[in-house]
Amino acid sequence: MKLVHLSDLHFPVALPFMTLKGKMIPGYMNYTFRRMRKYPISLWDAIVRKVQSLDPEAIIISGDITNVSHHREYDEALRILKPVLGDKTFMVPGNHDRYTRVAAGKKGTDLPYYEKFFSSWMGDSIPIQNGYLRIKKIGKLTLVGWDSNMPLSVLNAYGYVGEEIVHSTLEYLEKEKLDHYILICHHPIWNPPERQESSGHKMKNREEIAELLKKRPPLAYLHGHVHTNWVKYPDPQKPYYVINSASSTRISDQRHQSGFHLMEWNGKALNVKRFSFSNEEGEFIETKTISYQEKETNGR
Ligand SMILES: [Fe+2]
Ligand SMILES: [Fe+2]
Repeated sequence: MKLVHLSDLHFPVALPFMTLKGKMIPGYMNYTFRRMRKYPISLWDAIVRKVQSLDPEAIIISGDITNVSHHREYDEALRILKPVLGDKTFMVPGNHDRYTRVAAGKKGTDLPYYEKFFSSWMGDSIPIQNGYLRIKKIGKLTLVGWDSNMPLSVLNAYGYVGEEIVHSTLEYLEKEKLDHYILICHHPIWNPPERQESSGHKMKNREEIAELLKKRPPLAYLHGHVHTNWVKYPDPQKPYYVINSASSTRISDQRHQSGFHLMEWNGKALNVKRFSFSNEEGEFIETKTISYQEKETNGR
């Protein structure tokens, strides 16, 4: 079974200044302006073409498709992604997709924007008290989606997943006898030693979550949020792959190894390949995986 994992597409869209409110103004200046140069439009077509040519059984997108959660960014993201949206697509939101209280559905009675535009590709919502848990079954594999995001001040980007969500997930998998699952959540559960996050950026309670997951570990934990790729191999502390495909649509530079991953699962092992945009070829091509084995994971 072939699975493609994309993350942090951050399509920069020009927005009418008058339509920006509150933290969207500094956010727009910060992200969209800066990102216009680093996220050239040619990569958007190239990534869609490459994903289609790989013909995967699952296409997973782990959030941050927008910059400031503006309606127009959502319209544009939907238009660009249309060719890869279908039965095999599974999406979870990122912190930039829950940027404001309105976009996160915390004001008024409207649906959150992400759900409004993409609910057809977010899997089935499992009814639990006060929380987000979404599931999609593809062959013998179950994809589980969590939402680690909330609207915060412009200076913060941290995440949180309630322990009750972890309990509900494990209970559901047990009840339905689903042995093989992949967890998808925007915030990392692990970082390479040289890529640590500040407390204003990381998932606050990730070590508690990792402890609970030991009872029934996933095959892999797929995420984004930190804009450089990595693959951590299973180790005793976190006995699953941790795969970061952020930021798939960015040009690589010294600090950012951009691209996405293709995983092949044969029922036992997971084989991970990385694709990154080549300026010479004008296409995404297979390239070296940035991987961390047990001795390099710093025991965490
Ligand atoms: Fe991001
Ligand atoms: Fe993010």
